[in-house]
Amino acid sequence: MLTLAVLISGAGSNLRALLEATHEADFPARVIVVGADRQADGFAHAEAFGIPTLLVPFHDFESREEWGAELHAQLSVWQPDLLVLSGLMRLLPAPFVDAWAPRIINTHPAYLPEFPGAHGVRDALAAGVDQTGASVIVVDGGVDTGPILAQERVAVLPGDTEHTLHDRIKPVERRLLIDVVRRIAQGDLDLSAAAPTASSR
Ligand code: GAR
Repeated sequence: MLTLAVLISGAGSNLRALLEATHEADFPARVIVVGADRQADGFAHAEAFGIPTLLVPFHDFESREEWGAELHAQLSVWQPDLLVLSGLMRLLPAPFVDAWAPRIINTHPAYLPEFPGAHGVRDALAAGVDQTGASVIVVDGGVDTGPILAQERVAVLPGDTEHTLHDRIKPVERRLLIDVVRRIAQGDLDLSAAAPTASSR
């Protein structure tokens, strides 16, 4: 059974979908802890499923590195097999990524390498493209630059707002994320092979 730690910052709707999927008896992975950099609304989903939470408030620390060191220490207690960034809106410091790579994956609401960063949906709309997408990647030292594990196109429709477009992207993200986690858990997807530079660091 693959054990997961999920990191969030916000509503956690993708976390919710992952909790529902992994709650199924025959799913080969389990969420064992949910963490956040702030008092995230998504903690409510963890609590509803009886999953422990850990809060490491970013603003309680002098630097990103100190925050990352504490997050690393708290996550290490749980010894998860895989970290899932599901709407964590913080860059992880390099020592944190080095400690966990390649066992960190991230969902992103765009078709990477298009529109990386914190505003993937807004940036796609501003660019006037007629399609964007959803991606699941391995986290490396860059901003949404890691190896792509799964991605799918989503059409931008006339009249779309950031909200309506994001609402159509999220179900795709959830499906991709759950499928990637299942494939990793079943041994059908090898993160060391997908991210050879990360694993050899
Ligand atoms: C998701 O769309 C996720 O891909 C995105 O935040 C949303 C979280 O939604 N993450 C990023 O943009 C990271 N760059 P949720 O809290 O409802 O699951």
